[in-house]
Amino acid sequence: MKQSVKLIAGNWKMNGLGASLVEVEALRRALGDGPAACRVALCPPATLVERMAAAVRGGAIEVGGQDCRAEISGAHTGGVSAEMLKDAGAGLVIVGHSERRQEFGESDLLVSAKAEAAVRAGLAPIVCVGETLQQREAGQAVEVVRGQVMNSLPHAVTGRDFAVAYEPVWAIGTGLTPTLEQIEAVHRAIRAAMIERLGLASAAAPILYGGSVKPDNARDILAVPEVGGALVGGASLKAADFLPIIRAA
Ligand code: PGA
Repeated sequence: MKQSVKLIAGNWKMNGLGASLVEVEALRRALGDGPAACRVALCPPATLVERMAAAVRGGAIEVGGQDCRAEISGAHTGGVSAEMLKDAGAGLVIVGHSERRQEFGESDLLVSAKAEAAVRAGLAPIVCVGETLQQREAGQAVEVVRGQVMNSLPHAVTGRDFAVAYEPVWAIGTGLTPTLEQIEAVHRAIRAAMIERLGLASAAAPILYGGSVKPDNARDILAVPEVGGALVGGASLKAADFLPIIRAA
């Protein structure tokens, strides 16, 4: 299937202060104002969403959150709703990242509710899935990821702007990546599960690969069939690392 433009999204995780916005300004200058060859997004910590959105206003870089609550508002100390991210200038939000699934015990059901909240607020959810090393070694990668896709994607995303990100847990921040064949096999399984769950309307949504994407492996990974972009952690923090990944798309 011929995919439309790729989405290259950066996940800053719990990194970044006001001073880090110089990287976004450098990225914006380097990308220029001409038509972009791909979609570019950065997901800073919630404290920087509004300032980053102001820094990129009028340009091609999109801003996203890293997580949201499923509720609109209420007594949830420390919580940030999808509506709040939208109000701060975000256009996307990552949900179900493996660090949240592991550190906060987030279930597929909760991730699905968060993706639904994102759609409700007018944000494009990036729904993350991925197997652990133990599951990969037990030959369960495809089965695990398929189950996560079936249970983490709410029907509300049908026909909307959304993405699925395949991030093998053992590849995140480790410098390890699956082979290109392994990436292709899982991405094909994800596409099949998306169509089974949501119908052909989901065929346009990109499936991103994430986990140790770097300037030197981005081109090969982005050329794999069914890889519709990348979710980039460490290498998105500096414009000098993120730019060659964007250029590889
Ligand atoms: P990494 O992180 O690129 O640093 O491996 C990817 C992610 O967790 O989204």
